[in-house]
Amino acid sequence: STLQNFINAIPKAELHLHIEGSFEPELLFEIAARNSVSLKYKSVKELHKAYNFNNLQEFLDLYYEGANVLLHEQDFFDLTYAYLQKCHVENVVHTEIFFDPQTHTQRGIGFSTVVGGIQKAVDKAKNELGITTRLLPNFLRHLSEDEAIKTFKEALEFRKLFAGFGLDSSEIGHPPAKFERVFRMVRDEGFPVVAHAGEEGPAQNVWDALNLLKVARIDHGVRSVEDVLLLKELALKQIPLTVCPLSNLKLKVVKKMKDLPLKTLLENNILVTINSDDPAYFGGYVNENYIAVAEAFRLTRKDVITLAENSFKASFLSKEEKEEWI
Ligand code: HPA
Ligand code: ZN
Repeated sequence: STLQNFINAIPKAELHLHIEGSFEPELLFEIAARNSVSLKYKSVKELHKAYNFNNLQEFLDLYYEGANVLLHEQDFFDLTYAYLQKCHVENVVHTEIFFDPQTHTQRGIGFSTVVGGIQKAVDKAKNELGITTRLLPNFLRHLSEDEAIKTFKEALEFRKLFAGFGLDSSEIGHPPAKFERVFRMVRDEGFPVVAHAGEEGPAQNVWDALNLLKVARIDHGVRSVEDVLLLKELALKQIPLTVCPLSNLKLKVVKKMKDLPLKTLLENNILVTINSDDPAYFGGYVNENYIAVAEAFRLTRKDVITLAENSFKASFLSKEEKEEWI
């Protein structure tokens, strides 16, 4: 349709993307083969069939397993550049990429191997495709805070490469309060912070991410609609939410796309953005997420413009860089 063409054509930013979640089965099999890593799945098709999740944890189990085939700098480069080429095709002109250092360092892969490969792809995409990128390492919340602190200290060796830090993995049982100390250390070193909250966990986790971790943005945050006072706070402070529609559908955070509280968030003047989260696993990149909500909520061109403008407003681009796009 013409709205789909409009969505494809308009410049957009992506603010919630896990690079390990952009690992397409074809590339996963290719890298597994060249690294002589054996997989539980016999074929791309068989792996693809396993992409049926009842909750966040079932997805995470497969996502961490997939990441195990990444061994060398070249692997991280290939993974990242494939995603950035996808951005180019979809007219995503700016992207803020999450990665999980601990998923790799825990397997004996060097921090420098991971960031080296990612950064080389980022540089190439800037030069050849004109895409701007920010990198945000995320701490795995199912691991201890001491592990996060250790990871942060390793990250400081590469501090100039990072725009901020985040918190991901299993929300249930690992609330924001568990990471208060490390987030203070990160902020004291001058970095902005973000956290996944209110995806599977309650609105209280969003409050705690704001008050205890002092985050600049909330990743997901859809369960904020369960608390009217929280909605007022998010609107007043213009704390962005990086909403991921296809992710919420695939992980059964919502039963159907129409249950996603997008209209409620927009009507409450919240700075909502649309993102893909883990596109290889959830069935779509940024444009597919825009199209899914456009269909479910009968969005107009004006709504799409608002969402695309929000993506730049909510980004870590400088004021001058934002002005190119808004
Ligand atoms: N939630 C939590 N952790 C994650 C996600 C997510 O959606 N994707 C990758 N790690
Ligand atoms: Zn996420």
